[in-house]
Formats: sequence, C-alpha cells, structure tokens
Amino acid sequence: VPVLRNIGRLVTCREPGGQGAVHAIEEGAIAWREGRIVWVGKQKQLPARHDDGQRWDAQGQLVVPGLVDAHTHLCFGGWRADDFVARIQGQTYQQIARRGGGIHSTVRKTRTADTEALYARCRLFLRQMLALGVTTVEAKSGYGLDAQTEARVLAVYAALATRGPQRLVPTYLGAHVVPHEYKGRRASYVALVEQAIALFADEGLARFVDVFIEDGAFTVTEARRLAAAARMAGLGVKLHVDQLSAGGGAELAAEVGAVSADHLEHVSKRAIARLAKAGTVAVSLPIATMYLGTPPLPARALIQAGVPVAVATDFNPGTAPSFHLPLALTLAATLQKMTPAEALKGATLYGARAVGLDGEVGSLEAGKAADFVVLDAPDEDHFVYHFRPSANLLTVIGGVARWRAGGFQENAGAAQ
Ligand code: NIG
Ligand code: FE
Repeated sequence: VPVLRNIGRLVTCREPGGQGAVHAIEEGAIAWREGRIVWVGKQKQLPARHDDGQRWDAQGQLVVPGLVDAHTHLCFGGWRADDFVARIQGQTYQQIARRGGGIHSTVRKTRTADTEALYARCRLFLRQMLALGVTTVEAKSGYGLDAQTEARVLAVYAALATRGPQRLVPTYLGAHVVPHEYKGRRASYVALVEQAIALFADEGLARFVDVFIEDGAFTVTEARRLAAAARMAGLGVKLHVDQLSAGGGAELAAEVGAVSADHLEHVSKRAIARLAKAGTVAVSLPIATMYLGTPPLPARALIQAGVPVAVATDFNPGTAPSFHLPLALTLAATLQKMTPAEALKGATLYGARAVGLDGEVGSLEAGKAADFVVLDAPDEDHFVYHFRPSANLLTVIGGVARWRAGGFQENAGAAQ
C-alpha cells in the first residue's frame, strides 16, 4: 500500500457544507491500493496496516485533488489571433462571426487538418495540462460540424482516452453553429445532429451532448429537441447558455435536467432558482469572460441559491485561447469574487460533478481514484493568490506519478 506522507495541508474537497467547505487536514497522509484511495487522515493516525514501507514524501507541501477541467474545446485546427486583434480594435465577437471569422473560420481549418495532426496537437495540450495538475478533461467536438469531421474528432478523443494518462470525457457539440453549407436550411442541420447523436451514442464516442444557445447559434426550441434526442440515446446534456445575452438557455438546462449549464454571464434571477432546484452545476469560464470583457458570471448569487459553481477553462481558439486552469481559478477569485477555497472546489468536486464523474474523482476520500497533485504552496489561499507559470510539483493519476517538477522527488522519504 503506497502512502503519501508529510503533507503540510491536505485539502480533501469532500462535499458536506457546499462550495466553500474544502475539509482540509493539517499534517495529513493518503494511502491507496491499486489506484484507489483506501485511507485519508492525519498522518499520526495512519493505521499500521496501511504503512508497509512504500512511503512517498510530499515535502510538507499542499496536496489537493487532481484538477478537473470540465469544459474544453480541445480539438481544433489553426488559431485565431486575427479575431483577438479585431476585438481589441473594437469589433464584437458577433460582428467577427458574421464576417466569416469566429467559429466558422476554425471549422474551415479543422475540416482540412488531417487526423494525425489533430491528435498530435491534442496530445501536446494534454501534456501541458498534466504539468499544471489537470487530471480529468472534458473535451467537446464542434469544429467539424459535418458528420465525418465530427466523427474524426470524437475518434481522436477516444484514442487519447485510451492512451491516457488523463481521464477524458467526450462531448458531442454538433450544435455549435449552423455550418455554411446549411445556410437557409437550419431545420435539416438540426435533424442531422439528431441522427448523429444516436450514432455517436451507439458507437460509444460521446458521453454528453452540448448545444450553444445564442443569437446566431441555436434556439431554445432547437436545443430542447436535441436534449430529448440525447436522453433517448442515453447521453447526458450540457448547454452553453446566457454567454452573450440572456436567452432562456439556463431555464432550459433546468427543465431538461442538464448536468451542467455553462457560461451564464447573463443568467437571470429566475433561472438561478430553477438551476438550484434541478441540481444543475453552473460551469463558470472566467478566462472567456476576461478575453471577451463580458460581465462576470454572478457567482455569489448562484452560490447563495445553492447552485454548485464549477470553474473550467473553456479552452478554444476564439474566446479562451488558454488551457491554464490555475489561471481560471485566480480569475474566478478576482472577477467572480469566489474565495480560493470556493474556486478550488469548483475545479475539483464540482468540476467532476459537471462531467458526471463525482462518484469517481474530484475529492480525496476512501473509495475514489487516487488522483491528486502536490503544489508548492502552504494552502489554497496562497496557491490561488500567487499566480505563477505553474505551482505544481507532482501529478498523480490512479496512484501513478505521471508528471513531476524538476528536482522534486516524492520518494525522498522512502528510507525514513
Ligand atoms: O465556449 N460559445 C461558444 N463556443 C465557444 C467559443 C468558440 C469559438 O469562438 O471558437 C465558447 O466560448
Ligand atoms: Fe465553450
């Protein structure tokens, strides 16, 4: 039984008490067997049966659950620095999209990219996320739109999931925008997405269906139909809602029992109450808020109403060209006024809930997977406050060390 000892502060992120309750243990230890946690507590109370000599040393540092990025658009061709500059010069996201920039330009570049190249790029992104302590990643399609390219992207995700080391959760976002070749025939496109949902579910290529509800994307009525198709196919529902305007999307998320409602910068009071009642997770994406200069999601009102708030990156080439989840945590604190503890729970347990994996990962407690990170910080407040290229020292997934910082040696204490 391997044991991680000499943990200065072990933040378990267990559920009781809600968003701000992270249940930290000073001078903690974790023991695991075959990738699963068997014991968590104060080191001096570690039962002898869990201490058979396989000792790891956290060097007195902070240990938190492996970070969960519950919202990314991981696979895409090209970049869009031109859109970035155009927005700086005063054009809006929607004006750029109407001119053929925006999502459509990434669709062109994704369709023409070969599958190997897309796979290699995703590998590189995941590798860098691993170095930041990200152990579970939700990944959406949505830059192919046509059935063949969407299938290629979902196959890339399946290959990445098999290869590991991160846990990957694939989401089919065929309803990102109506592709140009369906201009004036949006009903046919929605019908195509409906068929693709059944197909991708059958092939095990998607676990969730997502729809971008917005002017210029999809309507609440169209999304309701696709949510029904997802349910019928046995897939969960996630929705992009109320990002650029309030359009009834969050109300729909509650109505269809979506696992998450994402963005929510313009969510209404009425919708917040409904999300709370439905148990839907609000996924906040403060990197997109920062890049677009939109008002932040009202985290305080959501938390007060009892809605769990996850924090994710939204990594994509348009609105959030960064996969840096610790940056999202710092922005959740400064823009959304979440405490570091609240933000951390949003990128661990509530991130896991937003991807349907909270029975498996997201907190450090017996029975869950041994996914954790050792961070160079005395506590979560300091970690979120002192933003750095990376504070991470060690990433462990399923009890196996998958990444370590130069000079860090978790086995240093083995001989003690
Ligand atoms: O989550 N809102 C829709 N989709 C992405 C943006 C995609 C893009 O601009 O390429 C988002 O912000
Ligand atoms: Fe997104």
